[in-house]
This record gives sequence, C-alpha cells and structure tokens, in this order.
Amino acid sequence: MKVLTVIGARPQFIKAAAVSRELRERHEEVLVHTGQHYDEEMSDVFFEELGIPEPDANLGVGSDDHGAQTAEMLVGLEDLIASERPDAVLVYGDTNSTLAAAIAAAKMDPALAHVEAGLRSYNREMPEEINRVLTDHAADRLFAPSARAVENLAAEGVTDGVRDTGDVMYDAVLWARDRATDRSTVLDDLGVDPGEYVLATVHRAANTDDPDRLAAVLDALAADPREVVFPAHPRTVNRMREHGLYDEARDRLTLTDPVGYLDFVRLQDAAAVVATDSGGVQKEAFFLDTPCVTMREETEWRETVAAGWNTLVGADGEAISRALASADPPADKPQPYGDATAAAAIVDGLDDV
Ligand code: UD1
Ligand code: UDP
Repeated sequence: MKVLTVIGARPQFIKAAAVSRELRERHEEVLVHTGQHYDEEMSDVFFEELGIPEPDANLGVGSDDHGAQTAEMLVGLEDLIASERPDAVLVYGDTNSTLAAAIAAAKMDPALAHVEAGLRSYNREMPEEINRVLTDHAADRLFAPSARAVENLAAEGVTDGVRDTGDVMYDAVLWARDRATDRSTVLDDLGVDPGEYVLATVHRAANTDDPDRLAAVLDALAADPREVVFPAHPRTVNRMREHGLYDEARDRLTLTDPVGYLDFVRLQDAAAVVATDSGGVQKEAFFLDTPCVTMREETEWRETVAAGWNTLVGADGEAISRALASADPPADKPQPYGDATAAAAIVDGLDDV
C-alpha cells in the first residue's frame, strides 16, 4: 500500500517520526512537507535528530494568512495526490497543513486517515478547533488518542472508522526520554539544575496577538522566584517585539531560540513545573511526570486536568503565579492515553483501507 503523509509544523514532525518508523516496515510512504514551518530550529533539526527521511516533496508555502496559506497547500497537494495516486493520505493534529491535506484527499480517491482525531476544546475561536472538526468530518480512518476522544466523535455522529489507538506522542516521548538524558547537554549549557527551574512556552495566537494577555503572561512568569527557561517560538518573538515587550522579557527570563526535541524533552523531564499554551507540551509533561500549568481557558487534553496534573489558568497573572507556586499533583496518575503503542495501532488501522 502507498501512504502519502502530509506534515508541515513542528509537532507533526515529532508525531510522524514515530509512525514512519512502523509504517515503512510494511508500506510505501511518500512524505510531503508543506513548508508551513521552515526555520532550521522549527523544521530541519527534527528531521536530523529523529531520523525522519528526507521529504519526497516540499511545497515551500511559508507563512501567510490562513486562507492564502491553506489554499497554496491545497493546490500543491491536489497535484501530488493526482501524480502519486496513494491509497491513503495520513494527516496529524490540527494545523493548516492538516486541513489542506484533508480537503484535498476528501475530494479525491485516497482514504483520509487522521491521527489525533476526536480532540475538542469546544472553543471555536481557535483556528485549530476549526481545523480538527473539519478534518474529522472528512476522514475515513480516525485514530483517537483516548476513550474521551472516541466519545467526542460519537457525540457528533462520527463512529465509522474510529479506533482508540492511544496517543502517538506517548510513543515519541518514551523513545526520546532516555536518549535525551544520555545525550542532551542543555541543562549544563543553560546552567540550570534539575527541579530548580520553570520551563515555559507560549505560541497560541490568543496569547501572542493580544498585547495585554502577552504582557500578563510574561509578567507572571518573570515574577516566579525560580529561573524561567523560555525557548521562544518565532511568532512569539515577533509579537514581543511588536508589542514592545521583548527587551524586558529578555532581561527577566532565560529566553532562547526554539530547541531540538531531545533538548526539549530533557528540559521538560527535569523542570520543577512546565508553563505552556502548547497542546503537545501539556501531554509530554504529563507523560514525564512533570506538573503543568496551562495558560489557556480550556484544553482539548482534559484528561490531564481531571488527573490533577494540569491546571488551567488562562492569562490571569495571579492565577499563573499561584499555580506555579503550588503545583503538587497526586501520586496516582491514570494512563488515559494508552500504553505507548499508538504508532503500531495506527499502521494496523491502515491495513485494510
Ligand atoms: C502553527 C499551528 C498551531 C501549532 C503550531 C506548532 C495553524 C493554524 N497553527 O501555529 O496549531 O500549534 O504551528 O508550533 O496551523 N514563523 C517563523 N518561522 C517558521 C515558522 C513560523 O518565523 O519556521 C513565524 C512567522 O512569522 C509566522 C508565525 O511564526 O507568521 C506563525 O506561524 P504559523 O505556522 O502560521 O502558525 P504557528 O503559530 O506556528
Ligand atoms: N518542542 C521542541 N522544542 C521547543 C518547543 C517545543 O522540540 O523549543 C516540541 C515539544 O516537545 C512538543 C512539540 O514541540 O513535542 C510541541 O509543539 P508546539 O508547542 O509548537 O505545538 P502544539 O503541540 O501546541 O501544536
């Protein structure tokens, strides 16, 4: 069988790396990079570190407004599907690259398979929520990371082709954890000790594009008595500069460029607490037994909150500070995201398309 995989943004490289290792044992994979992320530290570093094969095609779309970016991907992907004639198109998560591939595949012959199906934040203001709902409703195979994701789909009448595979990021993080401990020098490089620092990431449009929210988040992080390591997404650096917040942030936080996967897993594993608005980071912190403070009003990874390992604080400075100071998750941690065999389950689920 021929599977055309479409990836384009940082978290998709990490998830696809785990699945590709299994997929290529059984099937032919054509790997397409849309070019949504293109900086060395947002893209190339993951291909090198995770041993992802060179993409067969790179659409090179770059950054743009949502409509223009998605449309350019759609045109390129339609051509590729027509020339490659895959049996299935495999997409990940909820980015514009996901949606473009879903629309292209749904109108053509191949089956559409969606990894991370069924996630819902129920916040339609998030571009990702639109992308994931539309992709799920176009998909033929829906690989859900949890029982709750399966329920979310059922509540929307989507039951055909749904399979609870567990979460592929669990596979990814377990692959990386020991390698990161052995190989990463990031703690020494930054001069931080395990358990002594906060690790922060911010990149959601809702936080970066609103100057008041971004200022509140940065202030609350800087007020923590511990060192705050902040590998900043390029979007966030741009907005900090536009809003006149960059110099102060650089003085009060340990701002770095985005780091590679092994360094980031090491930083998450050894942090006292993680503060983020990322989807993937919430889960990885959970898998690595590091408490998480999520600077959003809601999350699609609600199991982590129910388990007491993740606290939702929005962009409320006092709530952020309080949660960082008091993060104390229960000793018992459920495993709602499977047993780190999602990649194999996803490839099994493609067998009969
Ligand atoms: C995208 C996804 C988001 C995901 C995130 C992962 C959508 C709608 N959003 O958000 O769901 O969580 O990726 O990181 O698809 N930029 C660079 N260099 C790069 C990439 C981006 O400088 O290599 C800058 C550009 O100024 C760009 C901005 O970051 O305009 C935003 O990039 P974009 O891919 O549009 O959205 P993300 O915020 O990265
Ligand atoms: N990540 C990384 N380096 C960084 C920040 C994040 O390797 O400097 C990884 C992180 O381990 C996780 C993924 O990127 O696997 C999360 O991506 P991001 O937060 O950009 O997107 P989201 O998951 O919110 O869509």
